[in-house]
Amino acid sequence: MENMSWINYRTAYSKDIYGKSENEEVKLIGWVAFKRVHKDKVFIQLRDRYGYVQLVVSREYSENAYKLAKRLNIESAIAVSGIIVSDERAPGGKEVHIKELIVIAEADVWPITKDVLKSPETMFDYRHLTMRGPRSRSILLAREGIILGAIDYFTRNGYVLITAPTFITAAVEGGATLFKLKYFDRFAYLTQSSQFYEEAAICVFEKVFVVQPSFRAEKSRTRKHLTEFLHIEAEAAFLTHDDIMNVEEELVKHIISFLNENYEKEVRYLLNGSLLKEYEDRFPRIKYDEAISILQSKGVNIEWGDDFGSDEERILSNEFDIPFFVTHFPVSTRSFYHMNDPNNNEVTLSSDLMAPEGYGEITSGGQRIHRYEDLVRKIRDFGLNPEDYGWYLEIRRYGMPPHSGFGMGVERVARWLFRLPHVRDATLFPRTPSRIYP
Ligand code: 4AD
Ligand code: MG
Repeated sequence: MENMSWINYRTAYSKDIYGKSENEEVKLIGWVAFKRVHKDKVFIQLRDRYGYVQLVVSREYSENAYKLAKRLNIESAIAVSGIIVSDERAPGGKEVHIKELIVIAEADVWPITKDVLKSPETMFDYRHLTMRGPRSRSILLAREGIILGAIDYFTRNGYVLITAPTFITAAVEGGATLFKLKYFDRFAYLTQSSQFYEEAAICVFEKVFVVQPSFRAEKSRTRKHLTEFLHIEAEAAFLTHDDIMNVEEELVKHIISFLNENYEKEVRYLLNGSLLKEYEDRFPRIKYDEAISILQSKGVNIEWGDDFGSDEERILSNEFDIPFFVTHFPVSTRSFYHMNDPNNNEVTLSSDLMAPEGYGEITSGGQRIHRYEDLVRKIRDFGLNPEDYGWYLEIRRYGMPPHSGFGMGVERVARWLFRLPHVRDATLFPRTPSRIYP
């Protein structure tokens, strides 16, 4: 019977090779990422969980291994044993000369041809396979770094990780972008944000955060909209709007240094050898009014009270080379839960953190209305029904302190930090208005 367990075969990973001495024997497992036959040798780039290592399968060492290697299709899974040899022509200066090659799972002819690679759309049709490429691999690892960097920040700062439901009954961010679905004999929606559940939880944990998908039935075909995105949200009791902006700023700075420290290889790969820029300065905070003036001075046709579209965000953020906050958005541009500015009832204690150089919004946040009567009034002002927000109102009857929070889109942050053409590049299986497969 075929031995199915390879668990004890491997003695090293690709990354270990470069620190090991010449002539040491190693056993490796992985996939044939690239292959080149040159006279009596087959050169293989073996890919494993940590990266790549060059294998040389020479007729001289093993006729049998050479024969197998020569006919193997790329992406076949193999096990090899061999010795480490220094060679300056090999990537990283070391390669492994193979004595034994075992085929674990043979691959068909790889369907990702040059034509497929030419079009981003076909690349995503084959995402289940194209994700194995070195660039997707690095982006997906860097994305992990963003998530783990955020978790690291929150847990060091006393935030409790909670989870919130995906099926919900009322809008958080306005009815226009709700996905409606049948829920047994009634209707429900997919959540746009976990914020309301976080607000309930701050009365027990004070500071909470979530890392989970949010859904938006947004038809906008821009470089920054997905219908399902990974949302990192945080909410904290006793914090004001200014306090929460400080949290957002610290979080972004922490994620950047976390990536430089723990994901150096991927960062350098994606940024042509550079590390991410670490910002020493405080992020500027400009009021919405000032942002409107800047846009108008750039010839943009926008009036006070209008929300920013993708173009406006791009034009505005092109004026900055450091992330910056736009604060005090008009009441009409923000969801009902935002607290109005006590000094100016036309604007809210809210803000967007904008990534510089054209990338635009990466977070939205602000201070919430914490008094029951104020919230009922504002729900009515917005033409909504307080009955739809029963429990959300009720938590305000039982000791709800002033509090603030924000949400950050992981793919937006990745697009900015790694200069990606589209947010879909920062997600494994993107969901957009035109894509729900694979
Ligand atoms: O600005 P949004 O809609 O704010 C909220 O949902 C708040 N309830 C969050 C909170 O205060 N807890 O979404 C927050 C962030 C945006 O700044 C953006 O980074 C990301 O989520 N985002 C999207 N990312 C990709 N595709 C979309 N369609 C997105 N919509 C929002
Ligand atoms: Mg927003």
